[in-house]
Amino acid sequence: MSRILTGIQSSGKPHLGNILGAILPALDLARHSENDCFYFIADLHSLTTVKDAALLKENTRAVAAAWLACGLDTSRHTFYRQSDLPQVAEFTWYLSCFTPYPMLANAHSFKDKSDRLKDVNAGLFVYPVLMAADILMYDAQFVPVGKDQKQHLEITRDIANAVNKYHTSELLVVPEASIREDVMTVIGTDGQKMSKSYGNIIDVFATEKTLKKQIGTIITDSIPLEEPKEPESCNVFNLYKLLASPEAVEEMANLYRRGGYGYGHAKSALLGVILDRFAEERKRYEFFMQNPEVLEERLKEGAEKAAETANVVLSRLRSALGYS
Ligand code: ADP
Ligand code: TRP
Repeated sequence: MSRILTGIQSSGKPHLGNILGAILPALDLARHSENDCFYFIADLHSLTTVKDAALLKENTRAVAAAWLACGLDTSRHTFYRQSDLPQVAEFTWYLSCFTPYPMLANAHSFKDKSDRLKDVNAGLFVYPVLMAADILMYDAQFVPVGKDQKQHLEITRDIANAVNKYHTSELLVVPEASIREDVMTVIGTDGQKMSKSYGNIIDVFATEKTLKKQIGTIITDSIPLEEPKEPESCNVFNLYKLLASPEAVEEMANLYRRGGYGYGHAKSALLGVILDRFAEERKRYEFFMQNPEVLEERLKEGAEKAAETANVVLSRLRSALGYS
């Protein structure tokens, strides 16, 4: 059995990029019978940027509903909300005493956020230590993450090795990052990487009206409808390509090249394929959002399961450090 663990922040609504780039690949791993998966919503990390309690709660529910709607089997795997296990805060403290200050000061993600954000709080600085605690507190062996998280995994490994050096090499499991090199970067409505922070998302769980509006904002060039167009250089086509069948993609490419096919037509086809591809997921998402008690029940069960491991690893660390 391999212990696989990953988390997604709840700093915004889950979008097409999160689904194709993180949730679906994680669910593929969960289908292998030899994997024991711990998937969670990193809502404590979200507090570094989201201070509005109602919004944070809503986003956390939306991210949880997205995982469940996409088919996470909670009877086989452990699915929980990070803040339901406050043990992680204690674990973070212990780890932070083994973390060299310059390692955090030089982290790319911290430097990037401190240049970009107005609110540069200590939580942003300690963010990688909390992430290390998320991983080490569950004896995770493999952590599937996007390329942007590679350095955070290196920091996690360094911290685990530092603790083990003082104590025994078996105290903490040193995890490996599984970087999803082959996973595409989904572009947003402006052609840049789709991201909550760029306001360019396509929310596949939104109402049809909102979804249509978001797709309507996809930036295209101004070649007139009747003229031939190059499909590969169009944001609408590139998004369509991620979701439609190869035959449908080929057909759209031919229509672009032939002329007489406008971006409005392509946008309608994209809306159609999203509604079709995610029809079941959208229904399940709606169910979980309309029935928060069912969602809460699943998260509560997940937290109980997660606590069984967290308490064992925390006790192991506590006693190694001389605390009872
Ligand atoms: P955001 O950029 O919207 O804040 P996060 O950083 O919370 O997204 O990402 C959560 C997960 O989704 C990460 O594993 C990340 O690699 C993946 N992800 C985010 N945006 C994209 C994208 N545009 N394409 C592919 N994967 C993405
Ligand atoms: N920092 C990760 C991100 O922004 C989210 C995260 C928090 C995480 N804790 C984790 C990912 C532990 C993997 C393992 O994408």
